[in-house]
Amino acid sequence: MKRLNQQVAIVTGAGRGIGKAVASHYAREGAKVVVAELDEQRGEQLVQALTSTGADALFVKTDINQIADIEALTNTAKEHFGSIDILVNNAAVTRSLDFFEVSEADWDWIHGVSSRGLFFCMQSVARVMKEQGHGRIVNIASIAGKGYPSTSNIAYAGAKGAVIAMTRIAASTLAAENINVNAICPGVTRTELYHEVVKGKMHTLGKSEAEIIELFDGTIPIKRSNEPEDIADLAIFLASSEARNITGQSWNVDGGLVYD
Ligand SMILES: NC(=O)c1ccc[n+]([C@@H]2O[C@H](COP(=O)([O-])OP(=O)(O)OC[C@H]3O[C@@H](n4cnc5c(N)ncnc54)[C@H](O)[C@@H]3O)[C@@H](O)[C@H]2O)c1
Repeated sequence: MKRLNQQVAIVTGAGRGIGKAVASHYAREGAKVVVAELDEQRGEQLVQALTSTGADALFVKTDINQIADIEALTNTAKEHFGSIDILVNNAAVTRSLDFFEVSEADWDWIHGVSSRGLFFCMQSVARVMKEQGHGRIVNIASIAGKGYPSTSNIAYAGAKGAVIAMTRIAASTLAAENINVNAICPGVTRTELYHEVVKGKMHTLGKSEAEIIELFDGTIPIKRSNEPEDIADLAIFLASSEARNITGQSWNVDGGLVYD
């Protein structure tokens, strides 16, 4: 039996990396997937790939920094599939910046998508979930939000700390509505974003690519950085009925970097 059979799931930032792995794994587990993505080409390509395997998927071009886009996403998903059972809040942005380099524009860009956008996605979709009487929300945070120091920058760490705090508040507020809210905190994960951050660190720390990868990966106790699928596996569990009595938690998937 597929673990997410006929469940309707919105995945934000599903065009590549962790979001793409989550959307693909969800589709394989029988979910109907709404690919909410800023990049049209990536979003359409993924939907084509999913539907070619017989899955039900819909692309909705979405900038989660725009409240109107979020409302349109919720309405389109509800109208098209009739319900929204799962929301995976995955989209976030960052780049490698030294403490003294972070500008107001960097702060607004990072927080606009990674914490503000995430909150308004939760709020908008939770209205539908409340009406339905059930729902699952999985927020993709980061071990940066728990103080892991080798992060891209302090503004990003702050945004991810906000995601962890909001996960707890949302879980306690929405528990009465039968909506579970959990977060996943990935550690080092080999996506395009990771490679962009590595390139930025090469510039800020004046080290080679191999040295930066060693800095990130060499300290992992299990000696293995994540593949996006490592995050997708936990995202399936948290959205499945097996996680029915788990809410408000922030789960690290990081090979043992952070114990919190
Ligand atoms: N890669 C890592 O090492 C790592 C570690 C910890 C946490 N994370 C978190 O995992 C999540 C996914 O990261 P990733 O590495 O796959 O990132 P990525 O940059 O590879 O992919 C992110 C996707 O989100 C989309 N996106 C960006 N802004 C958007 C917006 N405003 N609206 C809608 N979509 C938007 C992008 O187009 C892209 O397709 C993020 O929340 C990230 O912070 C990643």
